[in-house]
Amino acid sequence: MKHLMSPLDLSVEELDRLLDLANDIEAHPSRYSHSCEGKKLATLFYEPSTRTRLSFEAAMLNLGGSVLGFSSADSSSAAKGESVSDTIRIISCYADICAMRHPKEGAPLVASMKSSIPVINAGDGGHQHPTQTLTDLLTIRSLKGRLGGFTIGLCGDLKFGRTVHSLIQALVRYPNVRFVLISPEELRLPDNVRDGVLKKSHQEFREEVRLEDAIPELDLLYMTRVQKERFFNEEDYIRMKDFYILDAEKMKLASEDMLVLHPLPRVNEISTEVDDDPRAVYFKQAQYGVYVRMALILTLLGIEV
Ligand code: NCD
Repeated sequence: MKHLMSPLDLSVEELDRLLDLANDIEAHPSRYSHSCEGKKLATLFYEPSTRTRLSFEAAMLNLGGSVLGFSSADSSSAAKGESVSDTIRIISCYADICAMRHPKEGAPLVASMKSSIPVINAGDGGHQHPTQTLTDLLTIRSLKGRLGGFTIGLCGDLKFGRTVHSLIQALVRYPNVRFVLISPEELRLPDNVRDGVLKKSHQEFREEVRLEDAIPELDLLYMTRVQKERFFNEEDYIRMKDFYILDAEKMKLASEDMLVLHPLPRVNEISTEVDDDPRAVYFKQAQYGVYVRMALILTLLGIEV
């Protein structure tokens, strides 16, 4: 049985197959509409979510399966002190597969060790968010036609942003990816990702503070929200929160085919005036998230259509 804790749990070949399947689902959704009949997905969300939880649920419903779960720790027995290890043993009796989001790094991994059903990490603290990465890769491959051979700017909260950590891990495996890490000093990429992943991979990267300095050379701009919930004090958050605002003026500096991605939710870091720019693909990206989660559920359940 396979779990998904990090994007590296899938080889590049497995990832390719998964993205191919997601594209096939996009092209022929009705072929898949009964493939999970009788199967149940549990969504165990100990942290807020809109897209990840609902796209998982939509994915399972699109496959003809059913869903159950909880959307906050307060409404589960975690509020009574139950451990994730105990909870997952119980959920294993109720469902065939589960997606778990937790504020503690490693909690889904702990759960997977006690689970008799596949566990998907739907975001663990500031650590990893592999299904957002699958979404990002599908978006990039579908809209750019390839993975690799591009310059990507990652902008915003690179310290706490788990989507960035997972995306970097996944992208270093493709040829000729140049990374421009755009963040304030305080929110730079943690050493374990910069040294442990980027430096080790021998991909080219550099750090910038000003978005304007980096934007002209980018093929992809991945914007992120300052992760309010991971700050120790409100003052620091307030100081950082509007550090970057991508607006129509800055978009003029970008190339005509640079794509703007964002895992969402957006706060202030992308002005709504950018939404109508054809290069802004973050809402499309959310749609790709459903196809890729459908493909992931099928793959982890070993269902072939
Ligand atoms: C991201 C997350 O939860 O890490 N959201 C998402 O799943 N699309 C990004 C964020 O919350 O900023």
